[in-house]
Amino acid sequence: MSTPHETNRIVVITGASGGVGTELARRFLAGGDTVIATDLAPDALDRLAADIGRRDRLVTVPADITDEADVARLAEVIEDRGGLDVLVNGAGFFPIDTFENTTPDRWRQVIDINLTGYFLVTHALLPLMRGRGWGRIVNFGSASMYPGVPGQVHYVSAKAALVGFTRSLAREVGDDGITVNLVTPGLTLTGPIIDNFPAELIESQRNGRALKRDQHPEDLVGPVFFLASPDADFVSGQTLNVDGGMFMN
Ligand SMILES: NC(=O)c1ccc[n+]([C@@H]2O[C@H](COP(=O)([O-])OP(=O)(O)OC[C@H]3O[C@@H](n4cnc5c(N)ncnc54)[C@H](O)[C@@H]3O)[C@@H](O)[C@H]2O)c1
Repeated sequence: MSTPHETNRIVVITGASGGVGTELARRFLAGGDTVIATDLAPDALDRLAADIGRRDRLVTVPADITDEADVARLAEVIEDRGGLDVLVNGAGFFPIDTFENTTPDRWRQVIDINLTGYFLVTHALLPLMRGRGWGRIVNFGSASMYPGVPGQVHYVSAKAALVGFTRSLAREVGDDGITVNLVTPGLTLTGPIIDNFPAELIESQRNGRALKRDQHPEDLVGPVFFLASPDADFVSGQTLNVDGGMFMN
């Protein structure tokens, strides 16, 4: 028999049609939860729904997490469902631009998606999680914050800021039984990495790990699912690094 909050939860995943988001949606659905999957493009969400099935428990909501009106519409969908148990902030954008070539507009775009968007979604959805005695927020940072990465000053700045966001928010919401944690993936073979990152970089990552193989989206699913589960009831404000043992902090 399942204990409360193990299944049948309302789970929101941002960046749900991305490489990692898709696998997360699959896992939460398989565990008996209802997943509200949100991402930028309606057609990508349609493909996700066609791929995963489970239309009885999978709801797709196109939304730009940097757009307050979109985020408000997302909140309405969840409100109609009666509240929120788990929020996975997974959306991300990680272009490569040298610092010199980073225009102020590019800087704002990257910070908007990887940091401010996390604020906007969490701010709009937190009231739907509060007052219910239990809740989970899992944010996606990046293990790139440990060594720093040339060509990603904007992205690494945003993802590193999520440590402060996660820790401080954890202290504000603990009284409501809500935990807030951060997962920091290592280089994971999803679309943008396969398309844009040099093969030598992928190989050097592989060789730098205790576990010398490529990292795949599936490697992130168990850690996120754990942090979202009652097994992690007493874990909050933490950073869980999932990178095959590259950085050991
Ligand atoms: N792949 C990696 O190597 C890696 C490493 C460290 C951290 N991460 C982080 O893990 C998370 C998942 O990454 P992924 O590899 O699956 O990438 P991905 O590009 O496959 O998925 C990210 C998703 O976020 C969505 N998104 C981007 N901007 C958005 C916006 N404004 N509003 C709503 N959705 C938006 C994209 O459409 C995409 O579907 C991201 O937060 C990423 O920064 C990835």
